[in-house]
Amino acid sequence: MSLSLPTVELSKVNHSMSLDVSSFPPAPRPLYTDVVAGFNQTPRTIPCKYLYDDRGSQLFNEICDLDEYYPTRTELHLTRKYLEQIAAHIGTGARLVELGAGSGLKTRVLLGELIDPHSYLPVDISPMELRRCSDRLRKDFPDLPIIPVCVDYTADWQLPTSSVGGRTVFYYPGSTIGNFYPRQACSFLKNLSHLADPDGGLLVGVDLHKDTALLEAAYNDRQGVTAEFNRNLLRRINRECGADFDLDRFEHLAVYDEEHRRIEMRLISTCRQTVNFANDRFSFEEGEYILTEVSYKYAIEDFANLAEEAYWRTRAFWTDRDQLFSLWYLERESVH
Ligand code: AVJ
Repeated sequence: MSLSLPTVELSKVNHSMSLDVSSFPPAPRPLYTDVVAGFNQTPRTIPCKYLYDDRGSQLFNEICDLDEYYPTRTELHLTRKYLEQIAAHIGTGARLVELGAGSGLKTRVLLGELIDPHSYLPVDISPMELRRCSDRLRKDFPDLPIIPVCVDYTADWQLPTSSVGGRTVFYYPGSTIGNFYPRQACSFLKNLSHLADPDGGLLVGVDLHKDTALLEAAYNDRQGVTAEFNRNLLRRINRECGADFDLDRFEHLAVYDEEHRRIEMRLISTCRQTVNFANDRFSFEEGEYILTEVSYKYAIEDFANLAEEAYWRTRAFWTDRDQLFSLWYLERESVH
């Protein structure tokens, strides 16, 4: 894998407990370039990672508490219920690397059970979110080295070299793997396999295929938090790219595509309109939508196959009684 990331910055990351996250800005995110490129596709598409600015990350945390949004509580329930087994798989002295650090609720549960962990490395694209998460966990685990890494982990990246030691176990909860198209998910998992040590592991949460009504309710909550989360993306583009999206003229809708087994989050233009940014003008028909996120839902067997194709061997998986969600412990294949 080639490195486009500022290695210099990463190599500055050390064990200091008072590491200042803001001194490690993420690689420049080409929001503008990505939006223009995505707007030349049909349907117009914006990469979902841009949903997570500071406000977006906070709105997402609110989504996790919604009644309709079953993934978070189901995964937390699975984590608690099978905690001992999970910790046994992870083993002693692990260096736990969490992708998309988030609010840290499940992490706290997990870290509390790990035997003599070597260190914890939260990785997140949002510096504020990363700081909040790290600060909170430091209070609960004062003796654990916590090393925040502010990068876009969907780009090429590397673990800070200063934190070597301990078996690398990736923690990728929340079914964020579902936000990749399956082929991308496969190459992403392959990359993780390369980043892990030969005896490395991956604990990953995967949302399951299910009834359309239940899925659509989870992504179209009655309080409109998901709608706000989705439309915040336009607010961000207005702010950061000098665009003039009228937020009142775009409506949120999440649709489950049963054939592809994915939720599509859309922003639908409520009228015929033109949006300007920089030197570009984009016109929208009434009803035309921007695709802001896909969230794939897997059948157990399909995910097992995907993992295997990406050089991960399934050691265990756990699901709830209603088969809403699944949690997997995978180990790197020894030869690849
Ligand atoms: C980022 C995977 C946790 O796809 O379910 C939640 C993001 N989007 N509601 C998902 C999301 C709308 C979420 N994850």
